Amino acid sequence: MLSVRKLFLDIHDNDEAFRLLCTLTAAGQTGCGWANERIAARVTDPELALRISRHGAEGNEHARVFHTLLRGRSLEAAPLCADLDYMAQLEQRGLGVPHRRLRDARPLCEEDVIAHLSRSRVTEQRGAAELRLMRKALAQRPDTHRALTSITRGEQRHLAHAHGELLRLADGDRRRSALVRRSLRRTALAEIRVHRDVSLAVVSRMGAILGWSWARKRLLGSGIRVTYLFERCGGWRRLTGLRTSPPGRRDALGRAVAAGPRGRR
Ligand SMILES: [Fe+2]
Repeated sequence: MLSVRKLFLDIHDNDEAFRLLCTLTAAGQTGCGWANERIAARVTDPELALRISRHGAEGNEHARVFHTLLRGRSLEAAPLCADLDYMAQLEQRGLGVPHRRLRDARPLCEEDVIAHLSRSRVTEQRGAAELRLMRKALAQRPDTHRALTSITRGEQRHLAHAHGELLRLADGDRRRSALVRRSLRRTALAEIRVHRDVSLAVVSRMGAILGWSWARKRLLGSGIRVTYLFERCGGWRRLTGLRTSPPGRRDALGRAVAAGPRGRR
């Protein structure tokens, strides 16, 4: 019987599979840290810059935690192939602020900030959900479970931050509100494709490492494709809702941002 718990325990208890899992999660956090640090330096609102900078610092800290878990088993990060690189694929699809723009010191415009926060809103929800799943499955592995507990809380804070900032930007300004909605929709529809493609590549790689049967790989691949179809047919909206999704604390990364009546909970 295939269970999520057994799947994660098998991955955790195999050095090569654990190495790949930690490499993938650390790379995502490093990418988040890198982009947020540069965006913070190019945002004109100093309070927003401070919160984005905190987000970047926490992303880098999370990446360090995964590297510490690797070192604890005398492992090093694995090389990251392009088909497994979630952050690089998001960038290739034009989500967030392009890296070439982040190497330019000029301040970002409003559209850039909205694109960045939309990407954060969508990817932090994805990341928080996956970490919660992993944390629950690895409750019997205390060191990893402790690390995942702290990182999951951080991801929930990042989601709350992106959610709150977008609410503030959209509040009381119809043009900006439409811009935020368009940006979130575009981001979510592209992200679900990237997530499907990377997940299929991860299953293929993990299957080769752990010697999974053809039937098990087929079952997991089908699950990923069905999830994509569900998301393509409307499930993507849960990654973008600004009124109904549970963002947690509005002031997750610093001083509370103002929100209009529609955003109040
Ligand atoms: Fe995050």
